Amino acid sequence: IPVSAVLLETQPQGGQVLAGERLVLVCSVAEGTGDTTFFWHREDTGESVGSKRQRSRRAELEIPAVGESHAGRYYCTADNGHGLARSGALNVTVTVPVSRPVLTLSTPGARAVEGQRATLHCQARRGSPCILYQFYHGDVPLRSSSAPSAGGASFSVTLTAEHSGTYSCTADNGFGPQRSDTKSLFVTVPASRPVLTLRTPRTRAVVGDVVELRCEAQRGSPPILYRFYHEDVTLGSSSAPSGGGASINLSLTAKHSGNYACEANNGLGAQHSEVVTLSVTVPASRPILTLRTPRTRAVVGDVVELRCEAQSGSPPIQYRFYHEDVTLGSSSAPSGGGASFNLSLTPERSGNYACEADNGLGAQRSEAVALGVTVPASRPVLTLRAPGAQAFPGDVVELRCEAQSGSPPIQYRFYHEDVSLGNSLAPSGGGASFNLSLTPEHSGNYACEADNGLGAQRSEAVPLSISGLTGSRSGSVATGVAGGLLSVVGLAVLAQLLYYRLPRRAGGRPTSDPSRSPSDSDPQEPTYYNVPGWMELQPVYSNVNPKEGDVVYSEVRTIQEGNRHAAAPNSTLRLLQTHLPSHGPAASQQRLSRPQGSSVIYSQVKVAPLPASAAPRS
Ligand SMILES: *[C@@H]1O[C@H](CO)[C@@H](O)[C@H](O)[C@H]1NC(C)=O
Ligand SMILES: *[C@@H]1O[C@H](CO)[C@@H](O)[C@H](O)[C@H]1NC(C)=O
Ligand SMILES: *[C@@H]1O[C@H](CO)[C@@H](O)[C@H](O)[C@H]1NC(C)=O
Repeated sequence: IPVSAVLLETQPQGGQVLAGERLVLVCSVAEGTGDTTFFWHREDTGESVGSKRQRSRRAELEIPAVGESHAGRYYCTADNGHGLARSGALNVTVTVPVSRPVLTLSTPGARAVEGQRATLHCQARRGSPCILYQFYHGDVPLRSSSAPSAGGASFSVTLTAEHSGTYSCTADNGFGPQRSDTKSLFVTVPASRPVLTLRTPRTRAVVGDVVELRCEAQRGSPPILYRFYHEDVTLGSSSAPSGGGASINLSLTAKHSGNYACEANNGLGAQHSEVVTLSVTVPASRPILTLRTPRTRAVVGDVVELRCEAQSGSPPIQYRFYHEDVTLGSSSAPSGGGASFNLSLTPERSGNYACEADNGLGAQRSEAVALGVTVPASRPVLTLRAPGAQAFPGDVVELRCEAQSGSPPIQYRFYHEDVSLGNSLAPSGGGASFNLSLTPEHSGNYACEADNGLGAQRSEAVPLSISGLTGSRSGSVATGVAGGLLSVVGLAVLAQLLYYRLPRRAGGRPTSDPSRSPSDSDPQEPTYYNVPGWMELQPVYSNVNPKEGDVVYSEVRTIQEGNRHAAAPNSTLRLLQTHLPSHGPAASQQRLSRPQGSSVIYSQVKVAPLPASAAPRS
């Protein structure tokens, strides 16, 4: 009986087997006699798997089922010498459990940087499809992915700081998940643009202050290296090993004004802050005060320029000027430098000057500068003092010259008829005197000059007549005579009008030469010299105008008297006297008595009838 109805079966049934399990291919025939040869084939590859000959209608072949390579379509044939019969094909599948997957993290560079795309890849070397891959960040499942083929699964992310941490994945194809090793990922955050802040102890940054420069990037993975710049020159650097900002301290000098910036760098590119400008205020230094006068000496009326200047100090600087601690004024230097103040000098402006410079950081005061204001000598007043009411040859008359104002030292010069008699210095001001021992030649006009270097001032002329007689020294003419005497009229009443003429030749005849009288040339001039210091001038000498018609002159002769009048021997005097007995106490003084037996001839002087116009002069 030929073989028929060949059938292929598997153990286990259905052709499904786990890798490594026993797989038996059972080939059987329904009919057939004798010895039968069984063959097993793989249809998809055409290879022969094995054969067996036995007197049986059923044969078994065990084949290895290690991997998927053994999966395929199988069939068998049988032959007992009466014709070959074939079975249908049977699918054999070998299922492989997934192996432990491997997780790989890939980034574009060596470091994982925020913003980059990173890829996580999970792959099991072995394992039959379908494999389900699952990614984990720490313990948190991220995303699952089913891979129909053997390529594994991938997962891409754009990195943020939050993506730092540990990663793992699992693979599962139905026989229990397999977990990969854990991988760490550190996402580096580039430093953000830092902010620079300057902290000063007070509102203004002043030389000597310590200013703290703080640089801080809001974001950025540590460690961050901070660098500080002043006008592009590195001041220093400081590292923040665990993030945050960094500081450096700077002790300010005047050179530290300018622009500051800082830089943050954690290896992913330096970031620069915006520029911060710092202005360092320099306190005003002690100022120097200079006084500029138009000439060597400071003279009343001059304008002196006070210049105050601090060598250093940030503008604006306010300058104040002081005279003896009294503020004179102030002046501002808005852009630095010094300031000036002009002062018109008066005598009271002598003394110490100082100035202050102040730019808000404490006023600095200069050293004091002394200024002496020179007052020009005023027109001096010349007074003549004689021992008695009249001046006689041999008397010592004191010429006193005094300028009411004028800075010392004042040089006084005395003149007789424009001929210098001598000098006298008043080193500490006041007046000066000059003593003159009279000779007959000393009649005439006297004047004096006061000079303290600013132009000589000349007094008015004071005339002196010298009597040939020795006058009474018992009293002085003007003693006790008060202000009424100051007027020309009053003076005139009391005046002794003397006219003295010395003969040119000894023993010669009396001569009369009225033209030599100093006042001759100007009959209109007052006879008396009106000076403020007149009250002190006891004897009043006056020249006389012999031509005046309202007085009566008498001629007086002296007799030779030997040594009593050595200064004027053989002199002939012409005494001219106006006598007005009715006029008060002075009237009694109008005697020209000379005691001590002088050989003088007195003559009465009479008052002539006065024309009205000439009354004051009588
Ligand atoms: C800078 O000075 C401040 C105040 O004196 C101080 O607190 C800070 O520690 C200093 N910083 C540095 C870096 O020296
Ligand atoms: C002071 O006077 C000088 C000279 O006349 C003049 O140059 C200067 O400008 C004046 N200064 C002030 C502040 O008035
Ligand atoms: C001038 O004489 C008077 C009186 O004799 C005397 O007091 C005075 O000191 C003298 N002055 C001078 C400068 O000699």
